[in-house]
Amino acid sequence: MEIVVVENYDEMSDVACSVVEETVKRNPACVLGLATGSTPLGLYERMVRGYREGKVSYKNVKAVNLDEYIGLPSSHPQSYAFFMREHLFSQIDILPENTHIENGMATDEKAECARYNALLDSMPRDLQVLGIGSNGHIAFNEPFTPFGSETHTVALAESTVKDNSRLFERIEDVPRRAFTMGLKNIMDARRILILASGANKANAVYGLVKGEVTTALPASILQKHGNVVLVCDRAAAQKLGDGV
Ligand code: F6R
Repeated sequence: MEIVVVENYDEMSDVACSVVEETVKRNPACVLGLATGSTPLGLYERMVRGYREGKVSYKNVKAVNLDEYIGLPSSHPQSYAFFMREHLFSQIDILPENTHIENGMATDEKAECARYNALLDSMPRDLQVLGIGSNGHIAFNEPFTPFGSETHTVALAESTVKDNSRLFERIEDVPRRAFTMGLKNIMDARRILILASGANKANAVYGLVKGEVTTALPASILQKHGNVVLVCDRAAAQKLGDGV
């Protein structure tokens, strides 16, 4: 795993943006796997800036997102579909039909998982962007999700509901279930860019880099992927020691 430790969130976002932009420049029709949450907001801001400055076009890029809450329509401001449109897709030249996310309102959940797995198989990701949960989850693969998992539905861990409640008016409003890509789907990406910022991610980052590979810390599976770059700030890297 390549590890880049930077001073702060802004520098993490700068490095992340250069990794994404290089991927798109190398292959203007690449497939990007994208994440939501607070972590990639700075990256998306910079991607928008790069597009406006004419540095990069996303006209032929395809995007697939990691996960979506069950029970929220894509028009709901807290849905991940809405988040992606607001923070990225509506501000760059990616075609709406080239953006993909699970349908949170699907009535047949099994069929929706199968549809998404087939889509992922037909569109291998050149680069998968990931954040990491304070408990080491990636996408919504909570601790003890099998490493071989594909797109599935999950009950969110109480710690995740709590972490995500800052974006909702009341904790009761946070959906308790979600669709998520599985760990196998994530591992299928050719390259993985995982971002972490802040002291609350320090334990998870330690487990990701130096811990045992265990389903108790889902991100640890990335140690088995040959092409991962971790970009994290000093606060998130604080438990890694001086050797990195
Ligand atoms: C988001 C996702 C999650 C987040 C993680 C970190 O699509 O899949 O795994 O990456 O919960 O969230 P933030 O970035 O808000 O700390």
